[in-house]
Amino acid sequence: MDTPSRAPLDPHEVERTLAPFGRSLTLPASAYISPEVFAWERRHFFEDAWVCVGRHQDVPLPGDVRAANPGPSSVVLARDEVGELRAFFNVCRHRGHELLSEGESAHAPAIVCRYHSWTYGLNGSLKGAPGFRDDASFDCGDFPLIPARMEEWHGWLFVNVSADAPYFPDYVGGLEGLVRNYEPERLVAAARRNYLVEANWKLIVENYHECYHCSSLHPELCEVSPPNSGSNLEPDGSWIGGSMDLRDGAQTMSLTGAGCGPPLRGLDPGAHRRVLYLSLWPNLLLSLHPDYVMTHRIEPRGHERSSVECEWLFPQEAIEREGFDPSYASDFWDIVNEQDWRACESVQRGMSSRGHRPGPLSPREDAVYRFMRLVGRSYLEGRAVSHEES
Ligand code: FES
Ligand SMILES: [Fe+2]
Repeated sequence: MDTPSRAPLDPHEVERTLAPFGRSLTLPASAYISPEVFAWERRHFFEDAWVCVGRHQDVPLPGDVRAANPGPSSVVLARDEVGELRAFFNVCRHRGHELLSEGESAHAPAIVCRYHSWTYGLNGSLKGAPGFRDDASFDCGDFPLIPARMEEWHGWLFVNVSADAPYFPDYVGGLEGLVRNYEPERLVAAARRNYLVEANWKLIVENYHECYHCSSLHPELCEVSPPNSGSNLEPDGSWIGGSMDLRDGAQTMSLTGAGCGPPLRGLDPGAHRRVLYLSLWPNLLLSLHPDYVMTHRIEPRGHERSSVECEWLFPQEAIEREGFDPSYASDFWDIVNEQDWRACESVQRGMSSRGHRPGPLSPREDAVYRFMRLVGRSYLEGRAVSHEES
């Protein structure tokens, strides 16, 4: 592990974020607009974390390979002939060419570097290197692809490139118990939208964790869920969040409150009347509905730009039902997402103003406080701290 190095911002400004809830101020603007702080976060937050890079269905078949971006170091996800999935750094062992381009996916029996055609098996072993056949001192076994730490959890794929993140079950902690009954591993994406948001990744997480803005921004959401309902949970692991209730008569989050089928199997009756809004540090937002699971997977693209992949996951039996159309969920949330992105982008612009000053948090922004406190403590410690430590 690297020696801790503080984030490049004024520690006195950060201290104000660490004051007790009710007296704290938001993080300083530099946390959102400084390229240097963003570079620090990429190294200390994203490389040292379990970063979600997608779903097992993104590489479903033996021979499927795909480039993914958990941070500055790109990886290749590869499913071998017997179905085992691995992650490798996306770097050729010859002279460092990338094996796959950004966002590229393929189906092939081997991974061939485009530069000089070194060829790797799907298990990362070097199979051939043109021109070395007669070199007795050259051993392909000396040059396998470098593996990256990977975990699959309920169908989501996580990569930790530094190998310094905690043991995965400890990392998710009590989130496992909240998610398990939804059986996300058996759900499939029936709808997907990709957004490019002109805002720092943290603004998207912070916005997700409060409904203080819902009465102002989300009339459609307030029709089906009281904006001041629910509460946040005490986290034990690298997650935060809580629940909100559905209004009487609403079955789920949709424009009419109607769903498109029964609730997910295995949920207790309480879960039929609420939606859980949870985030797993640093980049996965999980919204667990009675009848579907929605995720936002954030990929920072720069200090003031983020891409967000939003997926709506349903059980196969719902998808196969006659008349099934996921748009009751995806169209609803697309409206809400766009309302949120416009707010995040406005805050990003506000952060750049000379007139910006950190502000206080309302009593309904306790999860935002938890998140900012963790970020602030990490800036000062020079490493990503856990919620328990913060
Ligand atoms: S850099 Fe990949 S084959 Fe040369
Ligand atoms: Fe919102």
